[in-house]
Amino acid sequence: MDELQESALGTQEYWDNRYKEEIANFEDHGDPGEIWFGEDTVERTIEWIKKQESISKNSKILDIGCGNGMFLVELFTQGYVNSFGMDYSEDAIELAKSIAQKRNFKIEYSVCNILEGLEGQFDVIHDKGTYDAISLNANIKEHRVTYLKNIFKGLTDTGLFIITSCNWTKNELVEQFTDYFELVNEIPSPQFKFGGQVGNTVTSVIYRKR
Ligand SMILES: C[S@@+](CC[C@H](N)C(=O)[O-])C[C@H]1O[C@@H](n2cnc3c(N)ncnc32)[C@H](O)[C@@H]1O
Repeated sequence: MDELQESALGTQEYWDNRYKEEIANFEDHGDPGEIWFGEDTVERTIEWIKKQESISKNSKILDIGCGNGMFLVELFTQGYVNSFGMDYSEDAIELAKSIAQKRNFKIEYSVCNILEGLEGQFDVIHDKGTYDAISLNANIKEHRVTYLKNIFKGLTDTGLFIITSCNWTKNELVEQFTDYFELVNEIPSPQFKFGGQVGNTVTSVIYRKR
């Protein structure tokens, strides 16, 4: 398996600058900013969550690398009221708090670098694009293992870990996570076919602890 090439998207400086701009846009004309991998991806994940008997409206749900928090906003709209958003960018958390406040949604946000550990344990941990960003940093491999260990510690024994990636395929994720997690399910996403090979633009997979 090849490593991804280092990129600016793997640095905190990039995200801080980007969220500073998004705060200005939100203040200016109420635009919450980018929905990474599109609204359909969010919708598919939330529809999947809604079908799970093991996830209740009171389950403790963490979105790691929550950015503007729009995934949690959509979850809250669907009645999931015990949610938490964490991001290492203070600017992202400021933006997410402003968006939730404007709608009167009670979502707890805090600054946290997943590579430095997680406070507390959660029934569901969701990641959309954060593992991807971490995979674009220097010291990629080392960071990926730290990330997995910290997600593992932060998940209850029966908890579910939902990850959406556009950089890794399902098989690559399964291979990378195998020491800590086993595959539970995959959320089907649109497929494309190129040169006889069938692929997905985004991959959403669900794991539980080994
Ligand atoms: C591609 S964006 C996705 C944002 C959000 N999950 C979404 O789907 O809109 C990646 C996010 O991961 C955050 N991030 C990257 N590395 C992180 C780390 N080590 N700890 C916490 N957050 C991190 C970035 O600040 C950014 O908000």
